[in-house]
Amino acid sequence: MTAEEILIFGNPTLRKNAAPLTVFDDSLKATVEEMFTTMIEADGIGLAAPQVGISKRFLIIGMPREDDEIERLFFANPEVVAMEGESEYDEGCLSVPGIRAEILRPEWIRFRYQDIDGNQLELEDGGLLARVLQHEIDHLNGILFIDRLSPSKRSLLKKTLQKMAETGQKPDNIPAAFSDAEE
Ligand code: NI
Repeated sequence: MTAEEILIFGNPTLRKNAAPLTVFDDSLKATVEEMFTTMIEADGIGLAAPQVGISKRFLIIGMPREDDEIERLFFANPEVVAMEGESEYDEGCLSVPGIRAEILRPEWIRFRYQDIDGNQLELEDGGLLARVLQHEIDHLNGILFIDRLSPSKRSLLKKTLQKMAETGQKPDNIPAAFSDAEE
């Protein structure tokens, strides 16, 4: 599994409602290891299984730590059970390369999930983890962050997204307001 194998906008698997994860075995652990390698190679901070063609409800997050190491997190069958507040944050996605946009989401969430051994756990967060987790849960439901843009903003990206779906690649002329290119 390499970064080139991450599915790009237009691939139908990204639009499926993923099935619950029911088997927590060594093969899952191996897949998750591969996903971490792929995500880090692609410079991402989160990766959901459907993005690598596995239509199951699990995802990984690599939280940046102060010592520059990455904290490796795994969540299976995550479910938000409470939310509060609202905030805007500049999001991007490995499956929608080259594009960034401010997305409004609940700021604080409490969620249930299963760990890599299938244990049921609960956690709450009001920072980056809450943000990334909500983005990744969207992937499990076939939703991409660009779907959360207002219709007028989304229409500005119409041609760019069409091109992306046709070529399976990052398009050349991304409108400046949505481009992740450094100035
Ligand atoms: Ni994404």
